[in-house]
Amino acid sequence: MAEISFAEATRTWVLNAASSTYAFRLDEDDAPSHVYWGPALTAAEVGELGVTTQPWWDGFNDPNEGLDELAADGGTRYWTPALQVRFADGTRALEWRYTGHEITGDHLRVDFADRHCPLRIALHYRIPHGTDVIERWTELAGDAEVVRADSASWALPVLDDYRLSHVTGRWAAETQLERVPVAHGETVFASRRGITGHHANPWVMVDDGTATEDHGEVYGVALAWSGSWRMTTTRSSTGRLSISGGFGQDGVVHRPPLTTPVIAGLYTRGGFGAASRAWHDYVRQHVLPHPEELRPVLYNSWEATGFDVTEAGQRALAERAASLGVELFVMDDGWFGARTGDHAGLGDWHVNEERFPDGLKPLVDAVHGLGMKFGIWVEPEMVNPDSDLYRAHPDWVLHHPHRKRSELRRQLVLNFARPDVAAWAHGWLDALVGDHGVDFLKWDMNRPFSEAGWPGEPDQDRLWVEHTRAVYALMDRLRADHPGLRIEACSGGGGRIDLGVMARTDQIWTSDNTDALDRLRIQHGYSQLYPARAMSAWVTDNPNFVTQRSIPLRFRFHVAMAGVLGVGGDIVEWSDEDLALAREQIARYRDIRPVVQHGALYRLRPPSGDGLVALQYVLGDRSVVFAYRQATHFNAPTRPLRLAGLDRSARYLDAGSGRVHSGAVLLSDGLPLTLPKGDFASTVITLTRQDTH
Ligand code: DGJ
Repeated sequence: MAEISFAEATRTWVLNAASSTYAFRLDEDDAPSHVYWGPALTAAEVGELGVTTQPWWDGFNDPNEGLDELAADGGTRYWTPALQVRFADGTRALEWRYTGHEITGDHLRVDFADRHCPLRIALHYRIPHGTDVIERWTELAGDAEVVRADSASWALPVLDDYRLSHVTGRWAAETQLERVPVAHGETVFASRRGITGHHANPWVMVDDGTATEDHGEVYGVALAWSGSWRMTTTRSSTGRLSISGGFGQDGVVHRPPLTTPVIAGLYTRGGFGAASRAWHDYVRQHVLPHPEELRPVLYNSWEATGFDVTEAGQRALAERAASLGVELFVMDDGWFGARTGDHAGLGDWHVNEERFPDGLKPLVDAVHGLGMKFGIWVEPEMVNPDSDLYRAHPDWVLHHPHRKRSELRRQLVLNFARPDVAAWAHGWLDALVGDHGVDFLKWDMNRPFSEAGWPGEPDQDRLWVEHTRAVYALMDRLRADHPGLRIEACSGGGGRIDLGVMARTDQIWTSDNTDALDRLRIQHGYSQLYPARAMSAWVTDNPNFVTQRSIPLRFRFHVAMAGVLGVGGDIVEWSDEDLALAREQIARYRDIRPVVQHGALYRLRPPSGDGLVALQYVLGDRSVVFAYRQATHFNAPTRPLRLAGLDRSARYLDAGSGRVHSGAVLLSDGLPLTLPKGDFASTVITLTRQDTH
């Protein structure tokens, strides 16, 4: 049970999470200053640390650099500003004055005011039950221009060295894991696109350069926000490292009241594997709206039909999907307005009558009649200039009066910060879901912001934050009014993967790249922070839509089965042999999915070169091992696959081979792997703990 205490004598707050401790204090000037973050210490032990503010050793270097809980710009704070304000009289610096605090269960709020100027600041800390996660956010009230308002600054202890883990990428190659030494100075990851972005993801992990998958201390920080963001890791000249992160767009000015999104921090021991498992537990238990659910096997029509959507075509796909064991049928883009290509129709959210002469109902009923749930693709934040909506409301898009309106994918961004636009979107989405019995929305967003203006609005800048907030509010409202509704977040694949969107969706479309080989790397990067429970993965056709590579169907299934399995190929054209294999693998997945979706992930062999990749999920008495070999090499040495997360003293039945293995042998020597011959060989092994009685 989390415990938060305050020591009056040292003016120190101690936050005890499940197995770690976080502490900060007020310094002599009332500024909130970091004390400790690491393995569990009692409040008394934290008191022994005897932390004091160090005097400057010369006129230029502050030994306390990087210790602020929220590094406010001004005065003699020269490090990365987390809070930058400007008051009406031109004053820029902030001087903290502590005004009180409140501890309510797992939540701490500490209040401050500026000593002279009209600004109040509340720092919030919360420890979600049973975790080592510290959620932090900041609230500002008063009268000031806020140039930067990060959610928090995080100070790490002085380590021998610092190494940064993060993901980078691009469309169809998201979440590529990088591990790099931290350079002195500032390393900035950011999105200035109004969406989370494919090129970076709002989290970092830091270790001392020696952590492995199984050993070592790892500090992680992740921001719950789906608009523009910035996360700065600063390695200071004083040997410290701090991380500051928050929402917002460079150069944009906010006005209080302002509440930042949550930024979560997590300290773990046990290497990157343990760090990821702790993040997964947190996301499953405290972020996702329906943590207890199993995600259904989905079919999505996009790669099968593109924009060539017809009722008969969708019915044929649905019938085939149902016969394979699919549980949720999703009709993708191309069902509405004049949307017969990407050039027109976005914004006209009425069914295309040529394609669906009797409306959507017959298809929805048919899908339901086949025993599947019905899902549908939407892209509410977008409009094609060639649409009735745009012709009627050209002022609804982000724009500046004397600037061109840059089109990307031939579309413009609707300004959801406008109440009339948000109300319009709610109207048609509510009707779409309510009138048709829609069970699932795939909520897409296919371009970043540009020329982000709001003519006529006195405070245009607020759209950068309020667009995202309006999207969240709309999702929340739809979910509240339609409790059975589930949502998949998507932004041209994985452009909107973050803790903020996960709090109101059920799964994420990971990438438009469904090539199983590329997916191994994408899924590896995704898994660093986010759980398989929210990682949508489809099996599609050969050659692959994006990469043109051909990979055996079994391998494609085995890769997708390590997440939330979906099928996205043109199954009407699949051979009997492929359909039989699909049926078998979907049935297999439905059996193992509790372990995959709710189990603990062990990344046994990460993707590198063309060697073996293996991962394992463990839940209770069951464990599932996935192994993939991209290429065989003549006479290449083989070795057993050492497993993890099992009980040494137990015995485990391999249902496939019928062999029983001792837990100790599986953990110490390993599981002998017999992969099929040839390239793109894969296997899925299920192990069940044997009754010891
Ligand atoms: C981008 C998505 O990532 C795809 O899966 C598909 O839904 C298309 N948009 C449709 O336009």
